[in-house]
Amino acid sequence: MSKKILVVNGPNLNMLGKRKAEHYGTLTLEDIEEMILGEAEKAGLKVVLMQSNHEGEIIDALHKSMHTCDGVIINAGAYTHTSYAIRDAIELIELPTLEVHLSNVGARESFRHKSVLAPVCIGQITGLKSYGYIAALYALKDIFEKGGI
Ligand code: DQA
Repeated sequence: MSKKILVVNGPNLNMLGKRKAEHYGTLTLEDIEEMILGEAEKAGLKVVLMQSNHEGEIIDALHKSMHTCDGVIINAGAYTHTSYAIRDAIELIELPTLEVHLSNVGARESFRHKSVLAPVCIGQITGLKSYGYIAALYALKDIFEKGGI
């Protein structure tokens, strides 16, 4: 049976296309989600897509994924730097989780250098713009096939 991945996009990512192109590229979230769906099909993976500007909704989606998905890709937007609640949700679901950022957070303001999610994620893909989600898909596929990294 195909493995299923929850792809979470957090606050302000619904505004992609209107945000600074030098950081985030020019694609809208719909464009990126279409790309993810196409690539997942090629890779033989199923994906569930969600975006929310609300911390609690992201936590609810993570809880639900515990019984319905095999892995998670999350771009938590600015919650990456602040949300211990999302961090705890990722920890408790015990699914392989990859953190994605469109921009190169390490090359930006210092408040973006710290991720409170990083300690409970397998790894971080940052600065590859929309390709980061595709890289994350294939990394998870590999992890599913090999049973680890
Ligand atoms: C982001 C980086 C965050 O610092 C920022 O708050 C975002 C998007 C990224 O994808 O580069 O909203 O997660």
